[in-house]
Amino acid sequence: MGETRGTSRASAERTARPRGNMKRALSTSSFTRGTMYNWRVKAMMNALEKAGKATGPLQLADLTALGHLDQYHYLGTQACDHVIELLGIQADASVLDIGSGIGGPARYLSANTGCQVVGVELQAELTDAGAELTARVEGLAERVAFVTGDFSSDACALPQSQFDHFVSLLVFLHIPDRAKLLSRCFDHLKPGGSFVIEDFVERGELTPAERATLTDTVKAPTVSSTQAYVAQLHEAGFVDIEVTDMSGVWQAWTKARHELFASDPSATVALHGQALFDERRAFYRAIDELFAGGNLGGARISGRRPGAREALLRRGRLLSSAAPTKPSVQVVEGSGGTMQHAAAAAAVAGGAAAPPAVASYEASAAGGVSASQRSPAQVFDGAAQKSLPWRTDGAAGMHDSLQYHFFFPGVFVALRVFHTVTLTLTRTSLRRAARLPHGEPAERRRVGLP
Ligand SMILES: C[S@@+](CC[C@H](N)C(=O)[O-])C[C@H]1O[C@@H](n2cnc3c(N)ncnc32)[C@H](O)[C@@H]1O
Repeated sequence: MGETRGTSRASAERTARPRGNMKRALSTSSFTRGTMYNWRVKAMMNALEKAGKATGPLQLADLTALGHLDQYHYLGTQACDHVIELLGIQADASVLDIGSGIGGPARYLSANTGCQVVGVELQAELTDAGAELTARVEGLAERVAFVTGDFSSDACALPQSQFDHFVSLLVFLHIPDRAKLLSRCFDHLKPGGSFVIEDFVERGELTPAERATLTDTVKAPTVSSTQAYVAQLHEAGFVDIEVTDMSGVWQAWTKARHELFASDPSATVALHGQALFDERRAFYRAIDELFAGGNLGGARISGRRPGAREALLRRGRLLSSAAPTKPSVQVVEGSGGTMQHAAAAAAVAGGAAAPPAVASYEASAAGGVSASQRSPAQVFDGAAQKSLPWRTDGAAGMHDSLQYHFFFPGVFVALRVFHTVTLTLTRTSLRRAARLPHGEPAERRRVGLP
């Protein structure tokens, strides 16, 4: 527990420690253990040694020049530039990088914006190497920290509702329980915080063989359609989701990567042996073929957690739109208001009609409905509507009203409802919601509470 790798081991505890209590969590996932990524640490150190930079200070460019050894996603630092631009990352921002690898994106984001980054990474070997490399780049150690842990697990304790943004580049495909993962992503963002995810998506229906390759070779058991992805993001509480189809560019990029790697075995074989070379080539070929087959695609997905007041508004709308269908609504005919259509009344009372659209929702201090709502189409009897107090203790009180419009063939019915149980509940719920702590249960998040 409590291990934050900000820089070298000696200085890790005093630098780059973000707010909150970070814990080193035991990994519960075995998806990316083994040689899948760890060979890269050795490859990175070898490459630095060859460049005469085995030790001592580094420039960020010394690392980014190593390309895919530094940035374990597609399109290298160009993808990071898109992230910066898309999120508008500022110097005062705090960013969570989920699945931070050897730290390339975290370093790049911070070096280019001045922001604080916490990278959470499943594999300790990558976390350690990432921290050590970061410590060698002047000025970065104070802003970039790494934590080892399985982010999808509750055991991975990071401060909640603290990050302005989260970023995750080619990681979520590896994590089996996406609903849980997205729920945790939501919890770690501040209300109003935004995110970018780059991930695989299923474009056409993946064949059983393609699924097997994804699961066994790529260790990617979680690849879904874009629609399903977006639905899950909404389910987790995120809003304003936008998806960019990256399939074409990623297909070209993964094809080039495969061909380049296969064309020059000597360096890899010399450094890492034939077995590692063969394994890497099989991996790159598998991805090349999956994209070329057209059923696998890629997406850059952005969105945000609703801000606090926006979340209340969303919840309020949901509550008020659900209210007319509840039997607890007391239908008051108002001052002499008359239902003009018996069938309409029966339909409403029996719940046989489709849920009516709520044309307006108003709680006005002045009482009554606004002039614009006194349309000639209303079928009240024309007498001025009396204001009814909603307080029963004699004190002056707010006058709440709901107005319902029902459209039936040949008839339009307007109903006004005063001080209903539902309204009272809505007020209470809103007050309660305003006090909700962060990390509320999922069913509240579904309606968009902060
Ligand atoms: C393709 S690499 C991407 C690394 C990094 N985002 C980058 O672009 O350089 C995927 C990374 O996700 C990490 N990872 C997989 N599952 C994870 C989890 N549950 N929690 C944290 N990291 C995870 C892997 O260990 C691996 O380093």
